[in-house]
Amino acid sequence: MRQMLIKPAAELRGTLKLPGDKSISHRSAMISSLAVGTTTIDNYAASADCSSTLSCLAELGVKFERAGAVVRIEGTGIRGFRAPSVPLDCGNSGTTMRLITGILAGQRFESTLVGDASLSKRPMRRVIGPMVAMGGTIDADDGHAPLRIHGNPGLKGFEHTLSIASAQIKSCILLAGLHAEGTTVVHEPTPTRDHTERMLKWFGAVVESENGAISINGGQTLAARDLSVPCDISAAAFFLVAAASLSGSDLKLVNVGLNPTRTGVIDVLIDLGVDLAILNEREVCNELVGDLTVRGRRGPLGSDANIVRGGIIANLIDEIPILAILGTQLEAGLEIRDAAELRVKESDRIRSVVDNLRRMGAEIEEFPDGFRVSRSKLTGARVDSFDDHRIAMAFAVAGLLAEGETEIIGAECVDVSFPGFFDTLQSAVSAS
Ligand code: S3P
Repeated sequence: MRQMLIKPAAELRGTLKLPGDKSISHRSAMISSLAVGTTTIDNYAASADCSSTLSCLAELGVKFERAGAVVRIEGTGIRGFRAPSVPLDCGNSGTTMRLITGILAGQRFESTLVGDASLSKRPMRRVIGPMVAMGGTIDADDGHAPLRIHGNPGLKGFEHTLSIASAQIKSCILLAGLHAEGTTVVHEPTPTRDHTERMLKWFGAVVESENGAISINGGQTLAARDLSVPCDISAAAFFLVAAASLSGSDLKLVNVGLNPTRTGVIDVLIDLGVDLAILNEREVCNELVGDLTVRGRRGPLGSDANIVRGGIIANLIDEIPILAILGTQLEAGLEIRDAAELRVKESDRIRSVVDNLRRMGAEIEEFPDGFRVSRSKLTGARVDSFDDHRIAMAFAVAGLLAEGETEIIGAECVDVSFPGFFDTLQSAVSAS
């Protein structure tokens, strides 16, 4: 267990290039592995989760070389994976487990997916159900990992309406659809991140999206094609909130992914009155990218009732812990609703946020699907990461805004998405 001590800061300054996007990195590795030919991926996420994806692919016979953020993958083609000789370890990564399930359900071999203590508690029926409906067979005790997947090369395309707004479930079904006979259609009541659709198209697949229905035909061939991963907007969110809250800040984040299914956090910050600008917007490898500048507040932020709920929640689901910290700085506080999914993330993120913010003296009310945090003066305290990377990073920012020192217990979990997070944060504080 690593403890991290955070001291209050006055401002954040400088120009930062954050790690590659975690969601896009996972997809780039999986989909290039299914392509014919060799793909070079630039700015691949340094995160432990994305390393879990690569090691699972290696067990499936995919050859790759990794030098820093550059990964070169020799695709095997759609039917080129081989039976693994050991269980595939997805570590802490729900994206690895749920997306690879979609690929493995249609293979000719059996495989087992395992994960760490947190991942083994996360709900997997949401992907098992659709796979079974397509003709797959997956054994799992009580809907949890380990998942024993009895591959069936005869999967059939089907039509499915998502009952949970989840890009992981959608992606699992689309990847299974690529291996199935006929057409697979997923209906999304609320749009979720569409990186899988964009990545499949980058590799030449035909994927159609119309009025919330996404369809893919099985048996398509993917062609290798080099790509560059944008920097992670979910990592950027911690820096945006810290800089916006500390009055003298002037921070630039370059090359950040601005896919419209991920930018809810930017919309909310701008609505609250944060001085945030998007520069140099451009398209890179089917994804929108730009630079962000953010200045520290000059006056009160968020003076009107601030309620975030409904369709936008899927668009900023991973940013809610850091928005809770921002809530303590807003004149009218912040209420989050329709976010019960937070309870089945790497930790129960509603509980983790409520528990830690109370330790720091904040006034916060817990709801089954969210919380309401009031404007509060934060006091340094001993807080817990709950082994959840986004909780550790959110409370590092809380520590910058608090009076006195904040100690984060179990801080090493930041490696799951952002190794070097504390050094990067410190570099912007020292540049002040
Ligand atoms: C992800 C989708 C989201 C998100 C997760 C990454 C993805 O999960 O919370 O961090 O890469 O598809 P859900 O699909 O469970 O909402």
